[in-house]
Amino acid sequence: MAMWRTLGALLLILHTVFGQSSIRWCTISHEEQKKCLAMSQSFTEVNIRPYLKCVLGGTVEGCVEKLQKKQADALSMLGTDIYSLGKTASFKMAATESKFDRTGASYYAVAVVKKANSGININNLAGKNSCHTGKGRTAGWNMPVGYLTDQGYMSVMGCNFPQSVADFFKASCVPGSKEPGNPPSLCQLCIGDDSGQHQCELSSKERYFSYDGAFRCLVEAAGDVAFIKHTTVEENINVPSKPWTQGLLSSDYELLCRDGTRAPVSQWKTCHLVRVPFRGVVVGNHVTPSAVFNMLVEGLEKSDFPMFSSASYGGGSVLFSNTSALFLEVESDDPQNWMGRFYYNAMRAMDCKTEDVLRWCVVSSGEQQKCGSMGAAFQSKGLTPAVKCVHGDSVTDCMRKIKNKEADAITLDGGYIYTAGKEYGLVPATGESYTDDQDGSMYYAVAVVKKSSQDIRSLDDLRDRRSCHTGYGRTAGWNVPVATLMERGLITPRHCQIPQAVGGFFKQSCVPGANQHGYPKNLCDLCKGDGSGKDKCEKGKDIYDGYDGAFRCLASGDGDVAFVKHSTVFQNTDGNNGESWAINLLSTDFQLLCSHNSKAEVSQYRHCHLARVPSHAVMVRPDTNIHAVYGLLDRAQAYFGSDTGPDFKMFDSQDYEGTDLIFKDSTIRLVGVGERKTYQEWLGQGYMDSLVNMECNSSSTVMSSVWLLLMALYGVMLTHLWM
Ligand SMILES: *[C@@H]1O[C@H](CO)[C@@H](O)[C@H](O)[C@H]1NC(C)=O
Ligand SMILES: *[C@@H]1O[C@H](CO)[C@@H](O)[C@H](O)[C@H]1NC(C)=O
Repeated sequence: MAMWRTLGALLLILHTVFGQSSIRWCTISHEEQKKCLAMSQSFTEVNIRPYLKCVLGGTVEGCVEKLQKKQADALSMLGTDIYSLGKTASFKMAATESKFDRTGASYYAVAVVKKANSGININNLAGKNSCHTGKGRTAGWNMPVGYLTDQGYMSVMGCNFPQSVADFFKASCVPGSKEPGNPPSLCQLCIGDDSGQHQCELSSKERYFSYDGAFRCLVEAAGDVAFIKHTTVEENINVPSKPWTQGLLSSDYELLCRDGTRAPVSQWKTCHLVRVPFRGVVVGNHVTPSAVFNMLVEGLEKSDFPMFSSASYGGGSVLFSNTSALFLEVESDDPQNWMGRFYYNAMRAMDCKTEDVLRWCVVSSGEQQKCGSMGAAFQSKGLTPAVKCVHGDSVTDCMRKIKNKEADAITLDGGYIYTAGKEYGLVPATGESYTDDQDGSMYYAVAVVKKSSQDIRSLDDLRDRRSCHTGYGRTAGWNVPVATLMERGLITPRHCQIPQAVGGFFKQSCVPGANQHGYPKNLCDLCKGDGSGKDKCEKGKDIYDGYDGAFRCLASGDGDVAFVKHSTVFQNTDGNNGESWAINLLSTDFQLLCSHNSKAEVSQYRHCHLARVPSHAVMVRPDTNIHAVYGLLDRAQAYFGSDTGPDFKMFDSQDYEGTDLIFKDSTIRLVGVGERKTYQEWLGQGYMDSLVNMECNSSSTVMSSVWLLLMALYGVMLTHLWM
């Protein structure tokens, strides 16, 4: 018995190590089946193992279904099929079909500009003239539009891409955009044939159609940027049959890179918008990918079967593409990795289904009222999807409702974003920005000291010093520094008595709002009141309140350290603040204390800070199209983003009961999430660490650290954050 069991286990192991005894290739046509059988015979003749068998699946979909049911093992598919079928089916990658160039790509989708047009880059394409190969085509439409949407440069309402492209660019040539309902600017740069006929048609009668045409549209001065493939420019230099290419120099053109720089057209491998994958060999999850890869490579080396030729089987792609030359090993068997992040994200962005309603979860009657007005206001402008309001008993109840598809969206702050992501699997769809610049959806919480305070070398040296804080319970001025002191073990609050612990650490402080019963008196010692001695330590009234106040407290010499945000120093030095206390301050007279025993110049805040603080974000289920949500809200803020006027105001709560309803009142605008697509990416590692570390051991009851920190940090923060 035991022996058989051992043998059985051994066979199982052998099977897993060496994979199948045969590989069942799935074919999608009778031609493929014929070729597969011939290939199988040819492989057998030269003893290639595992054996190749052939299963007729009929279609790519049929084959993928067979992979799921373990009725077939492998087949080669186009990148587009791998994307679309991968949404519902699960499979692994075993190999990449590649041309001799070994890129494994169909091509690279690039954005080309004239070198002389030096002001243009990927960040400022809005309002420019654009040339596209054709509507619905890959390099000229799906990739650039998907990329610009995914990165948050462009917003799309109601999945109406033609409208959003028309809104984004000034004028374009997008052959195929002539049908009624398309914005006329999409055809504006198209010129038709020699007699001006067939303008904007999706055919070569339109001179600016396809790759060559889109490049020609750029060459002949109509466009600022052409969306084409990486070979197009080189292919159109001094071509005898094309008069318009005479005298062109490829050095007169440049590529726009994703990082905002530009590069010569020869640098397409590093400077492109999206690498478009070609074909890949997929296998069922029950198959060892390397077994299939090895079999294919052996087939190429040992047999003389022409795997990439289809001449005897009707031509084109039969089993494999007739343009392929070799198989490349995959770095990862995960289809998303194989496609590449930018291709996957661009495809996802274009994969937009119009939803009729977006159900916003609200938790108070004030929010309910504002949400109702918001829905009506949006409807009055014809915005889609329509906003409906769903009441939740609490923020956590809303997260649960969204997860269970009883609601769709809610705006949350950092601590809740953590819970929403970790416990409920929600993702950010758009974020609030509190400034007009690009960094407005986050800031850095920093500790500022005077350069002349040479005896303060690290945070540890702050004990028994004088500290200036923006206010009690505020993020940069209180929560982050307190969490940092706790993390470093400099304070260990007992029974959640954080104010007491902080009061014991610093000699004197100004913490506006800490003038509360039972709090240490020294937390208010440095405060000045309103100037005439009134309102000392009053939140919002003390002259040392807020970012500027805390910095003033430091600059005036009352404090040794100020806990503020990175921009506070610049706003109050080098002549940027004309008030008498600030007019002569120099930014170079101040330094930052880093979280790891060092100091840095104030300009180094990206590397030397206590935390990077993320802004509030609208959180949704991962199956929600985030671009449709941002598309709606971005269009809405064009109408309702202002805090003045008689219309509905998205970022103002005065007409309702409460503050910061649905959105924070201090929001300037909403921004796309760009590359920060998960709750971890939105929050940032440093901020998450500070959340996890902020344990306040208030009682012996078992509470998750997340819940504790929500109470400790965010209970107060909810009402005071960025006030
Ligand atoms: C691939 O097949 C197509 C269709 O039969 C044919 O037009 C093309 O010339 C072939 N390409 C190669 C490289 O053999
Ligand atoms: C809280 O308790 C845990 C375990 O009892 C301990 O490891 C941790 O250091 C404590 N944190 C603080 C801030 O006292």
